[in-house]
Parts: sequence; structure tokens; C-alpha cells
Amino acid sequence: MTRRRILVTGASGYLGRRVVRAAATVGDVVGMVHRGRVADVETVVVDLTDRAAVHQAVETIRPDAVVHTAAVNPGQGDERTMRRVNVDGSRNLAEAVRNVAARMVVVSTDVVHDGTAAPYGDDAIPTPSSAYGRSKADAEREVAAVAPSATLVRTSLIYDVDEMDRGTAGFAARIAAGEQVGLFCDVVRQPISARTLAEALVGLIDVEHPGPLNVAGADAVSREDFGRTMLAFWGVDDRGLVRGVRAADLAPSTPLDLRLDCRLAERLLERRFPGVDEVLAAAR
Ligand SMILES: NC(=O)c1ccc[n+]([C@@H]2O[C@H](COP(=O)([O-])OP(=O)(O)OC[C@H]3O[C@@H](n4cnc5c(N)ncnc54)[C@H](OP(=O)(O)O)[C@@H]3O)[C@@H](O)[C@H]2O)c1
Repeated sequence: MTRRRILVTGASGYLGRRVVRAAATVGDVVGMVHRGRVADVETVVVDLTDRAAVHQAVETIRPDAVVHTAAVNPGQGDERTMRRVNVDGSRNLAEAVRNVAARMVVVSTDVVHDGTAAPYGDDAIPTPSSAYGRSKADAEREVAAVAPSATLVRTSLIYDVDEMDRGTAGFAARIAAGEQVGLFCDVVRQPISARTLAEALVGLIDVEHPGPLNVAGADAVSREDFGRTMLAFWGVDDRGLVRGVRAADLAPSTPLDLRLDCRLAERLLERRFPGVDEVLAAAR
């Protein structure tokens, strides 16, 4: 039997590198990168905002499946850049994927929701309250319009035990610089290990589920507790500089409760998505 060709966008990213590893266990992987590089995998350098380049790359690679992780995240670009990459780039990719009739699994986010109606079901209508959330919600809509069979995976904060996640790294850098770090004590998320999420994304290639699907870790934890837990896991002394603060007071548009009901994804994939405590305990 010929092995499937799996294209992974954002292959140089935190999640994308893990998706490349997971996908390599079930197929032949091509990683799409932009400015970054990734070792040990065939790569193609493409800017997702360049429609012709995206179409040409996908036509040449002719993947059987595409896992789309690439995005501009909060802090990585202004609103215009987020829209160009997350919305236009995702549409460019979806068109190209449709042309080769490949399966598409797309990474979205819990912040397509405004945090006032948790726990959110898979089909909850997006109510984004940030530029990033709006760009990801619009990306979902564009992809669904072009490639209705695509699975749109709404997920939570991503971390792993073999490499510090960006959030924790940012807090650690500020602590090292002697800065105060305020962590929201009233914001609830369901962090998921990047490895678990990568395995789920690859597993979903073989599952028929058009539209949104929640995939997040089992434990609902406050941003403060998660931040403190990860700093402790990485042995970062917080030097008394970390304190809990209320998003409701300081940044009122921040979604407060982003719990996701993930039972359908667990059923479809016949597995659990372990919470932070379980993942960290296993790593220790
Ligand atoms: N991190 C989280 O906690 C979190 C939470 C919820 C959802 N998500 C979603 O999960 C996905 C992965 O996030 P991540 O944290 O792993 O991101 P990341 O490490 O910042 O990686 C982003 C990737 O997107 C690629 N990219 C950016 N602009 C591009 C462009 N114009 N053309 C082609 N590729 C481009 C980057 O490529 P180069 O490096 O090669 O330039 C990089 O590989 C994203 O869809 C994000 O929205 C993340």
C-alpha cells in the first residue's frame, strides 16, 4: 500500500513540529514553512498570503491530507497581518486543498468565544472579542465555505514537557528581568499538551467530522494556576514577582471562562485528552 502524503503547515512552529512527528508515524510528511526552518523533514517554503504560490505548492505536493497549524498568534503581528495570514492565507490553502480533493484538518482556538456562555459545545457560534479571535473565527468561516468537509479544531493553551511554551517563556524572561508578572486569576482555560493535540490532529485525518470540534485538556484551570504550575515545572523561581490579577478589572474584553466540551472528540478518537496535572506527573 502506498503511504499517504501529509502536508503540515506551520511545520516550524511549536505545535507544527509535533504534528510533523506524529504525522510521520502514519504517512510521508511535507512541512510548509515561511521564515522558519525545520530539520529531518521534506520542506517547502511558502508564504500563505501568496495565493499563487500556495496553489502551486499544493498542486505539486498533491497531499492526501493537510493539517493546517500555521497562524499569526497574539503578539506576533498587528491586526492586518493576522487577517492576511489567518483569514486570507487559510482561504488560499482551503481552495488549493479542495482542488486536489485532500482531507483538511485546521487548528482554531477557544478564543473564537467571548467567555460568557461556557462550557462551549462543538457547534457554538463564534462570539470573538479580540482581533486574533475574530481572525480565527473568520478563518473558520472561510475554510468551511470553500472546503465544507474540513474539521476545524478549537483548542486551548498549548504547552509541552520537552520545550517551554511561549507563554511560560515570556513570564520567565520578565521574572529574570526583575519585572512584576500579573497572571489572571479569573480566566479559565483547558490547556492541552502539544503532543496530545498533535496526535489528535493526525488522528482526525481518518475521522469524518465537518465543521468545528473541541479538543482541549481535561483540567479547567485558571491562567494564574497554569502559569505558576508551568514555571514550577521548569524550575523557574518566581522571586515573589508573580501575582494574581483580575482580567475583569484590568482587561474587561478578555474571555473569562473558555471551558470546552470535548466529549465528542474523545469519542471520535477513542482516547482521552489528559489534563495538566496528569501530563506533568507523567513527565516527572
Ligand atoms: N500557542 C497556543 O497556546 C495556541 C492556543 C490556541 C490555538 N493555537 C493555534 O495553534 C496553531 C499553532 O500555534 P503555535 O503556537 O504552534 O504557533 P507558532 O509556534 O507561532 O507557529 C506559527 C507557524 O505559522 C507559520 N506562519 C506564520 N505566518 C506564515 C505565513 N505568512 N505563511 C506561512 N506560514 C506562516 C510560521 O512559519 P515560520 O516560522 O516558518 O515563519 C510558524 O511555523 C495556530 O493556528 C494557533 O492559532 C495556539
